[in-house]
Amino acid sequence: MAKKTIQDIDLNGKRAVIRVDFNVPLHDGKVTDKTRILGALPTINHVIEQGGTAVLLSHLGRPKGEANPRFSLAPVAEALAAELEQPVVFVPESAGSRAEKAVSELSAGSVSLLENVRFHPGEEKNDPELAQSFARLGDIYINDAFGTAHRAHASTAGVAQYLKPAVAGLLIQRELEYLGEKTENAESPFVVILGGAKVSDKITVIDRLLEKADTILIGGAMAYTFALANGKTVGDSLSEPDFVDTARSAMKKAEEKGVKFLLPVDNMIVDSLDFDNMSVGNVGSTDENGNIPDGWEGVDIGPETMELYAKELAEARTILMNGPMGIFEIESCSKGTFAIAEAVAKNQEAISIIGGGDSVKAINQAGFGGDVSFISTGGGASLEFLEGKALPGVEALEDK
Ligand code: 3PG
Repeated sequence: MAKKTIQDIDLNGKRAVIRVDFNVPLHDGKVTDKTRILGALPTINHVIEQGGTAVLLSHLGRPKGEANPRFSLAPVAEALAAELEQPVVFVPESAGSRAEKAVSELSAGSVSLLENVRFHPGEEKNDPELAQSFARLGDIYINDAFGTAHRAHASTAGVAQYLKPAVAGLLIQRELEYLGEKTENAESPFVVILGGAKVSDKITVIDRLLEKADTILIGGAMAYTFALANGKTVGDSLSEPDFVDTARSAMKKAEEKGVKFLLPVDNMIVDSLDFDNMSVGNVGSTDENGNIPDGWEGVDIGPETMELYAKELAEARTILMNGPMGIFEIESCSKGTFAIAEAVAKNQEAISIIGGGDSVKAINQAGFGGDVSFISTGGGASLEFLEGKALPGVEALEDK
């Protein structure tokens, strides 16, 4: 890795300001998905083991620069303490004299989590004064918030100018290794599964992956825009008629590059969807030509597609999954996404990388989270990284 990491610096006796991404889902004051907390443990433990003290900064939700108890990190401190099996001192401020006093009183080897950095209007504006306040909290800056690395904020980028050494944590290092090096130099066959609602959201990543992948499997609602480009009817399915030409160019590029570009050969279709009750009306399938009639919409890939895609996945040596195959939040429309998750998990010969956001939720819900090589903690960040964009939170760190 081109950036310095915590393995390159001396942590003994140092107070380390560690930016983590604890933007985790909460329900009734309890953390419902601990992926991001677990992801930060190796760095926190490393700092403690090396004789340092950990001062953690994070955001939670989008409180728009105002203190709001709904977005307090206090419940996250509790969840972290349970995972670390040691107390976590929660400091109800993240900047200013009270925060500085609280962290100066921490004993060596302790862990503290400060209140939501987005309670300050300067955080998202990357305000230099706020960045300097964060810098006064410790002797070393470590960024391990991969999920927020695509934001140039005071606690993710600005602070690195004022607090040195400024280095990457172990989570960022691992994310860059899997999403970067392992897909750059992927062992063949490299099979990419791309789902999600919109071609417009994924076209940059499709374009880039067409340079590296051997096979691309398309699912989710974006498949209906590709279906339109192939002259099919999609009924009332979610699609982007304005992006039909874009879809066509992607398919042309795939042909030129010799990349196998597969679209669903069948879909589960319904005549109504009720998100309030998470239910569907009558269920059908695309006709023998792959068309969907008016009044019906596609909600998942069909059984033939599941089989076809599973076969491709069984032969892969590198797999990258980004995006679900259908509306997996509704149980009756989750079969395709879960079947693909199972096919990914079954291939233990391949390096399998789950690229963040909904795919992570899907693989965990399907019960295969423990069977894949790597699950990214980044949603937007992993997508931007896969698109080839520089991440400000990484760029701000010191070069090796
Ligand atoms: C995320 O959940 O994707 C990150 O924590 C970033 O959050 P944001 O989109 O509110 O900046």
